[in-house]
Amino acid sequence: ETRLVKINNMEDCKKDMEEAGELIKAGELVAFPTETVYGLGGNGLLPDAAKKIYAAKGRPSDNPLILHVCDMQMVESLVKEIPDNARRAMEHFWPGPMTVILQKADQVPDCVTGGLDTVAIRMPDHPVALELIRRSGVPIAAPSANTSGRPSPTKAEHVMEDLHGKIPMILDGGAVMVGVESTIIDFTEIVPVILRPGWITKESMEEFLGCEVLMNTSLKASDHGIPRAPGMKYKHYAPKAEMVLVLGDDQEKVVDHINQLAKEQKEQGKKIGIIASDETKDLYQADEVISVGQRAHLETVTAHLYDVLREFDHKDVDMIYSEGFEGEPLSEAIMNRMVKAAGHEILRI
Ligand code: TXA
Ligand code: MG
Repeated sequence: ETRLVKINNMEDCKKDMEEAGELIKAGELVAFPTETVYGLGGNGLLPDAAKKIYAAKGRPSDNPLILHVCDMQMVESLVKEIPDNARRAMEHFWPGPMTVILQKADQVPDCVTGGLDTVAIRMPDHPVALELIRRSGVPIAAPSANTSGRPSPTKAEHVMEDLHGKIPMILDGGAVMVGVESTIIDFTEIVPVILRPGWITKESMEEFLGCEVLMNTSLKASDHGIPRAPGMKYKHYAPKAEMVLVLGDDQEKVVDHINQLAKEQKEQGKKIGIIASDETKDLYQADEVISVGQRAHLETVTAHLYDVLREFDHKDVDMIYSEGFEGEPLSEAIMNRMVKAAGHEILRI
């Protein structure tokens, strides 16, 4: 039985937070909100807790976990050294949606890092997450709290959908703010490398650090055939219906093209869903048209993307056509997820 606990404010919820901290200490799992997506947390120093996480998610155990910390002292205990640029980035962007990769200290269990000699660490910007880490007194290993292969959860209800009956407790902090997973940046080489794009963009990293930052989110461009962020090699975020991403510089033409495709598919008896934007949603003819947010404000798109993908799983559609969101710094984070959701099925017109 999974207990879903609403956390409105920390004052009224001391007992629940205490219980959650005790569960983590004891090696049990607790799902909790962060500013990016909900995490499935376990004691990051206990190999058995990591094993429970992999089992609950149905996730391959060579895909390493992120350790969530509440202060710099915890970071020091988990790594060999902190390069100067990494320390500056942590001081500036934390707490926040940035995960850093550093050389791991011996006390970090191999099953947390998937056998790598590096470790992923992040300080989340959410009062419930930080309080849970403080009360546990240990770094919390937490992947996104979804079943492997489903969109990451941005609401406690999404966690319930995937993990009900598999974990003892879910802390409900409402809908998250960011909506896509943290930016992962590798500081183990001289030039920092972004392994997963997120809310904190390459541009803002470069501006703050005052140096070049590389982007390496592909499988092929890995050192020895080993993906730099092993999570990248797995199928991700896939909706149940087939999804096609339709891209073009002229948004009016994209709308016309999607309407044409939808019409052809409909004539073959298929039910059609469309992922639109606020600016275009009234221009479509299809069975289900859902806006993912405003083109003019892409943070509304990151906030709703996974929720919309999950919503389509509850609608009875055979095909989903989706608009793309190109051309802005935040597009990198959005398109990275959309391309995966579409299984790389992209039509450029
Ligand atoms: O926003 C987030 O980062 C969320 C919340 C819960 O904090 N967590 C999250 O965790 O997205 P997860 O497990 O779904 O994604 C972790 C990613 C995976 O792609 C994994 O391969 C990569 O981080 N990763 C972990 N350790 C790594 C390491 N040592 N080197 C390279 N990549 C690593
Ligand atoms: Mg994930």
